Amino acid sequence: MTPVLEVEGLVVEMRRDRRAFHAVDGVSFALERGGALAIVGESGCGKSLTLRAIMGLLPNRGRLASGRVIVDGVTLPAAARGRGRGHNQQRRMSIVFQDPLSALNPVATVGNQIAEAPRHVLGFGRSASRARALELLRLVGIPDPERRYHAYPHELSGGTRQRVMIAIALSSDPAILLCDEPTTSLDVTIQTQILALLADLRSERGLSLIFVTHDLGVVSQVAERVAVMYTGRFVETGPTADVLAAPRHPYTSGLLAAALDVDSPDREPVAIPGSLPDPLRLTSGCSFHPRCQFATAECVTSDVQLERVGPGHEAACLHSDALSAALAAAEDV
Ligand SMILES: Nc1ncnc2c1ncn2[C@@H]1O[C@H](COP(=O)(O)OP(=O)(O)O)[C@@H](O)[C@H]1O
Ligand code: SF4
Ligand SMILES: [Mg+2]
Repeated sequence: MTPVLEVEGLVVEMRRDRRAFHAVDGVSFALERGGALAIVGESGCGKSLTLRAIMGLLPNRGRLASGRVIVDGVTLPAAARGRGRGHNQQRRMSIVFQDPLSALNPVATVGNQIAEAPRHVLGFGRSASRARALELLRLVGIPDPERRYHAYPHELSGGTRQRVMIAIALSSDPAILLCDEPTTSLDVTIQTQILALLADLRSERGLSLIFVTHDLGVVSQVAERVAVMYTGRFVETGPTADVLAAPRHPYTSGLLAAALDVDSPDREPVAIPGSLPDPLRLTSGCSFHPRCQFATAECVTSDVQLERVGPGHEAACLHSDALSAALAAAEDV
């Protein structure tokens, strides 16, 4: 079956201090219809720009240097990507941003904001658009939709605003929903509710999902596949259960050690030493080497690419086996 979305060799060039760097550096993946992929990594590793490049919404200082985005087997024309929402296949995708307050229009009622795409994109009449907006408010679990239709964004709680953002994203009837840290600003209870809502949308409507987060803790709740991103590249991808149980890249095991584990509350999280390198100062070799306890001289000079380490599981590390041995030894203690 043709994947609903294929991303091939995406490279996003950004400019800072009059110098260019690759903020996204050769990202490729495929998303099955109804499937979900989580993209995880520390802040600044290129997650948002990956989503923006797929949507054709790069910031002014960015440009798509190379790569292809294919939706339902059709390659999006570069012009449509550059200008945003014009192309039919482009409309098959919607995005939910992290901060609903800045993404919503403060002077329009939420009902009118949800009704906009049915009216102007899908060509519904006025009353059908309104009915669609009410249906979407109900679908995303907002009580008393008739009343909430007339509310302004500032009158709503953070959790309700994020539900409104999801309703707006669904209002153009997309096949693929891209979520950029949609629960980061919410408390844990609301976060769990939003994740459950996304799971329902997948099972009931066959929606495909890309879910970006810096929190490995939520990944297993939202996606059966995960991609771990570092300095603009996927450094490990695979079935979520396999990657979390037996990571094959030291960055992934570092993220796991740094995360709170609800199953073992006595275990203290251990932060990864150092920080993300400045993208303008990246040198050759594996970009994780300054922070990696397994690094050897070879890691500093070699071009390290993703390689198969298990069924559907790839990692970009020269010493994956040393990591596995160290994790097994730690288990035995
Ligand atoms: N509008 C922008 N202008 C210049 N640099 C940017 C812009 N947005 C992101 N970047 C840079 O691109 C890199 C990746 O950013 P981003 O995709 O936002 O990371 P993430 O979403 O993983 O936190 C970072 O180095 C960031 O500083
Ligand atoms: S390639 Fe080397 S430096 Fe990079 S993650 Fe693997 S062991 Fe560490
Ligand atoms: Mg981001």
